[in-house]
Amino acid sequence: TDLAPNPSTPPGNPELADAAPPPQAPAIIQRKDYRVPEWLVPTIDLDFALKLDATRVKSTLRVERNPHGEQGTTLRLNGDGITADSVTVDGQSTNSWRMDGSDLVIELDGDKHEIVIETTLDPAANSQLSGLYASNGMLCTQCEAEGFRRITFFPDRPDVLSRYAVRLAGDKAKFPVLLANGNEVARGADPERDGPGTHWAEWHDPWPKPSYLFALVAGELVANRSSFVTLSGRKVRLAIYVRPGDEARTGHAMESLKAAMKWDEDVYGREYDLDDFNIVAVSDFNAGAMENKGLNIFNTRYILADPDTATDGDYDAIEGVVAHEYFHNWSGNRVTCRDWFQLSLKEGFTVLRDQQFSAAMGSAPVKRIEDVRVLRGVQFPEDSGPLAHPIRPDSYQEISNFYTATVYNKGAEVIRMMTVMAGLDRFRRGTDLYFERHDGEAATCEDFVKAIEDGAGLDLKQFRRWYEQAGTPRVEVEMRHDATSGEVRLILRQTVPATPGQPDKAPMPIPLRTALFDRMSGRHGGEQTLILDDATREFSFTGFAEPPVLSINRGFSAPVAIATPTPAEDLLFLARHDDDPFARYEAMQQLVVQHLVGVVNGSVTGAALDQGRAAIGEAFEAILDDRALDDLMRGEFVILPGETYLAEQLLVNEPAAIHAAREELKAWLGINLGAQFRALHDRCSAVPYSLSPEARGSRKLKTQALVYLAPADPAEAIRRAKAQFDGADNMTDRQGALMVLCGLSGPEREEALAAFHDRYAGNALVIDKWFSLQAGSLNPKALEHTKALADHPDFNLANPNRVRSLYMAFAANPQAFHDASGEGYRMIADLIETLDPLNSSTAARFVTPLGRWKRMEPGRSALMKAELERLAAVPTLSRDTREQVSRSLD
Ligand code: ARG
Ligand code: ZN
Repeated sequence: TDLAPNPSTPPGNPELADAAPPPQAPAIIQRKDYRVPEWLVPTIDLDFALKLDATRVKSTLRVERNPHGEQGTTLRLNGDGITADSVTVDGQSTNSWRMDGSDLVIELDGDKHEIVIETTLDPAANSQLSGLYASNGMLCTQCEAEGFRRITFFPDRPDVLSRYAVRLAGDKAKFPVLLANGNEVARGADPERDGPGTHWAEWHDPWPKPSYLFALVAGELVANRSSFVTLSGRKVRLAIYVRPGDEARTGHAMESLKAAMKWDEDVYGREYDLDDFNIVAVSDFNAGAMENKGLNIFNTRYILADPDTATDGDYDAIEGVVAHEYFHNWSGNRVTCRDWFQLSLKEGFTVLRDQQFSAAMGSAPVKRIEDVRVLRGVQFPEDSGPLAHPIRPDSYQEISNFYTATVYNKGAEVIRMMTVMAGLDRFRRGTDLYFERHDGEAATCEDFVKAIEDGAGLDLKQFRRWYEQAGTPRVEVEMRHDATSGEVRLILRQTVPATPGQPDKAPMPIPLRTALFDRMSGRHGGEQTLILDDATREFSFTGFAEPPVLSINRGFSAPVAIATPTPAEDLLFLARHDDDPFARYEAMQQLVVQHLVGVVNGSVTGAALDQGRAAIGEAFEAILDDRALDDLMRGEFVILPGETYLAEQLLVNEPAAIHAAREELKAWLGINLGAQFRALHDRCSAVPYSLSPEARGSRKLKTQALVYLAPADPAEAIRRAKAQFDGADNMTDRQGALMVLCGLSGPEREEALAAFHDRYAGNALVIDKWFSLQAGSLNPKALEHTKALADHPDFNLANPNRVRSLYMAFAANPQAFHDASGEGYRMIADLIETLDPLNSSTAARFVTPLGRWKRMEPGRSALMKAELERLAAVPTLSRDTREQVSRSLD
């Protein structure tokens, strides 16, 4: 069963059994050690007798020696926390097997055998939520990356592809719905075989797949059904299964699914390949969702939405994640990964695809800004910290730790650069070739690059370094202007910083979309993509009587940091005139970043401080007044750069100073543009609810206006926020108003929190918001509040959504987490220690916030490090958490 440690006396033939292994340092898995599998498993039959606390699994493997593998006689089947009740080989019970650690090893003399193994599981006790587990009375699985070995013994590696035939039997009242991958081929009832009150269903998946894509679901579920006709005219039945009562909240997910199916046909030529596509939403889930073949399993938070319970952001996230998992059917399932080092092959590419899809469904520039915000707020810090790794890592101890912003988001950026260099049409020829060449295979990142190279006609020789080297490249920019010749020389330099295990870096090709603006006309003579492919490169332009204004890395064409500050007057010019919406936004951000960094490091004081604020104030006013801007975009312009991103710009992180400088600027803007923000709040409050971009834009701005009024005039902000909260007919307005009230103090805060909790009692996803709002609040007492919320009857350590809603929100709240007392650090370390035995992969994710101690000012640095050292001394730490703690201390 799940929480049982590995048996110290291995079952099986005692003569073959090893002695209990001595405790040893955790194994490091290296990419270079890859070997093809010795044995293949062309087909597997799985027979499940389902029960919440005792599920019996009978697994029949047809194994064949791989002609390309080493010709040994041992078959190694991975297991994790399971024991074999029986093992037979070719119909005979056998003594030729033994346990080696948690793996089952069988000696075989022939080239082809049939192995039957029985195991018994306790899904109700599986708090790790990996393998087969119980959630809310239903049974479900999560097998990626290595969960299948918690169900049965198997070569649990993605390059072993099998055809699955699955029989599920269980109590008909408890599990009226029985689902697995592929097609349901038969169902019935056989009480003699399966027991009284049972029924069964048989599912066959015609597509060979790796074990990580196996899934089953059994439970009392209701379906929202629809259908989709594919490009070749086949009708696909669609169903989204949820708990009874939730079906009314599945409409948006269903629409997103159909839009994604259509888009993948139109843009990538990819058609769906089964008669059924099923989605199941579960409330206990470690990740966001999972792309199991024909049976995607989702965290409820990425399925359920209606205007009363989901924000506009939630709607967008659902659209993106539903599309992401659907797109995996080709980028991940039809072409899968050879080994887990290749994870970005499917994840980076699929993130790019879902980003492109969402851009096409809504505002492309706003989507780009949001994606870059996540990259700079999460991935850049990862890339400059102790956990930095290339998008294709070279080694790991626990693969769960590598489902990172680097593998996912930077991975997407790296492929996006290929689209910048090739153009979308040629890129499409590359992806067509990739799918054609590798359909049905377990491929590598190298295979992908080669297919793009051949199909799109790019030379990606040097570009491959993006897969090898970690760290965010820094690009320095120098412009020289010769007034007599009218020549402009642009000198670009790149450095890739050292990262753990990679002290020296080689230059990488960096495609920078660039335009040079004429100061007088406010126009440029055409954009060019400059490829900075050496440590230094010079580019020359002619025809400039005056020095132009440089707009570089437009659209964020490369995931790099532009390290040279731009003169404030040029930023103001670009914020007004740049015709690339991202570049315009970026100019505004840089204006604020340069100012705040100067305030924090003490270089901007006195008159310079006033001047800086005045410039920002003017730029804000221009944005608020610009009638050509839509409100969704305007909303992006008025969001100040986050504290984590600001901290990245400093050599030494001073969280308190960063927080104070940013809050003071907000208050200054709120005071000096008070009339504008009031008028904005009035104008936007008059727009009725709908999902139109206009209405969504006004909701975004409405709450932003309150954000600036809050520090400037708290009494008025409370009055307006309370009115917005009381009058809200949708969650975006209600949550926005509650966030603002939460950050202030007074009876309105307590009343609104209580009213919100009352109204949504029992709705887990909304109660998650209630926890997050308080833990993530600007309220000076957020630390105290978080501590108290841990004892709230609704808090539940066994549910990852609830744990994250409280503690991830807290760890992402700099003013609370970085409390000078160190109490915030201790709270997170205590959480890790308590959660680790229950759910190690969720616990390990909380190590990251403690890991940035090296860049921290000395006082906090010592406190953070002490918490990591305390964790390192816990002898029972999981492999997941131990790996993250030791990398963070290195
Ligand atoms: N492949 C899933 C996705 O679509 C995520 C699986 C998460 N697994 C894990 N061990 N963290 O992104
Ligand atoms: Zn994915």
